[in-house]
Amino acid sequence: MAEPVVKKEGESFELSFPLFDDNTGDTSCPLTKACDADDDDDEEYDNEFVFDIDASVLVDHRSVLLQKMIGEGSYSIVYKGFYGCEPVAVKVIQPCNALAVSREHKEKFQREVALLSKMKHENILKFVGASVQPTMMIITELMRGETLQRYLWSTRPKRLDLKHSISFALDISRAMEYLHANSVIHRDLKPSNLLLTEDKKQVKLADFGLAREEVMDEMTCEAGTYRWMAPELFSRDPIPRGVKKHYDHKVDVYSFSIVLWELLTNKVPFKGRDNITIAYAASKNERPSLENLSEDMVALLKSCWAEDPKVRPEFAEITITLTNILQNLRSADTPIPPKLVEIVDPKSTMNNDCMATVHAITKFNEKGKKRRSYLPSFLKRFAGCFYK
Ligand SMILES: Nc1ncnc2c1ncn2[C@@H]1O[C@H](COP(=O)(O)OP(=O)(O)O)[C@@H](O)[C@H]1O
Ligand SMILES: [Mg+2]
Repeated sequence: MAEPVVKKEGESFELSFPLFDDNTGDTSCPLTKACDADDDDDEEYDNEFVFDIDASVLVDHRSVLLQKMIGEGSYSIVYKGFYGCEPVAVKVIQPCNALAVSREHKEKFQREVALLSKMKHENILKFVGASVQPTMMIITELMRGETLQRYLWSTRPKRLDLKHSISFALDISRAMEYLHANSVIHRDLKPSNLLLTEDKKQVKLADFGLAREEVMDEMTCEAGTYRWMAPELFSRDPIPRGVKKHYDHKVDVYSFSIVLWELLTNKVPFKGRDNITIAYAASKNERPSLENLSEDMVALLKSCWAEDPKVRPEFAEITITLTNILQNLRSADTPIPPKLVEIVDPKSTMNNDCMATVHAITKFNEKGKKRRSYLPSFLKRFAGCFYK
């Protein structure tokens, strides 16, 4: 793997192309440069655009070093890199010459920076900083696990362990609950926008490129990703020109239901269908199969993907439901502790001291004596302290 490029004291960086290591495909470059040579050839620059980004979130691009490409999105390439000495992920908006970025993508970037920089939650990707010149980039914590999508692919066709799936779903639900409590709609909730920690035990929400602050009566449609998009976002009936469909934060609950279904089944929702047929099927109230899923999960999925957004629960309720389901699963798994039933010789081996009592129980078990319901009632009250 290529070594990170370390900035020496007083060294100034020039705009340069990435250095590819032939053996690994790793990239190292000082500065955010992952450009095509003719990036700027035929683009018409929108030099009029003035960024409206809080100066406190901007960082000096010279402190950012790129190491290797780790992901690619709809309008960006993401690199592993360093911000000073801190390993980070750097999302470089394409093309990397900021002047050549379309107005639409500049606005998207600006919104993403504004929203992500305000979010502080253990299940939301941590924002580190952003830069607009000469390259637009967003620096975040580096997630060393893969995306949830790749993780599911790598496990397929096996299903994830149920507790593991529900624990991921809880992470997502908590992140979404926080977002909605702050009047933010994500609008692009899907496995490729969910990132895992290195130990693959926790999941964090990323990609705020389509996220919006919810303003009542002003939320009109823009594309997300069909497979996870709520049916109210696409219409079965033609909409008159100039009229836009309205929606609210419940579109995220629908997307969550599809992600939850994937977590539980490890299958592709609406497999083999293209965007148009998925949109048509979802708007006709067709949903993924509920075969082989437990009753409580079926109930949760059905409510989350209900056609009427008002029927879909809030994430606060989903979090409670999932917490209860997970707790039940965990307690069903906990081996039933041996019953405190008999003390060998209450007079000689037992007193009010817990240790002596535990010793007595062990002795009883070793002797394999027949169990009898014999325990001074006052001791039963302390039974809990023997089974920690
Ligand atoms: N912080 C990060 N740590 C590790 N990988 C990341 C990180 N951010 C993004 N990625 C990778 O880059 C991909 C694209 O990032 P994303 O933010 O979704 O970009 P886009 O907005 O262009 O879709 C992700 O699917 C993931 O594979
Ligand atoms: Mg993305």
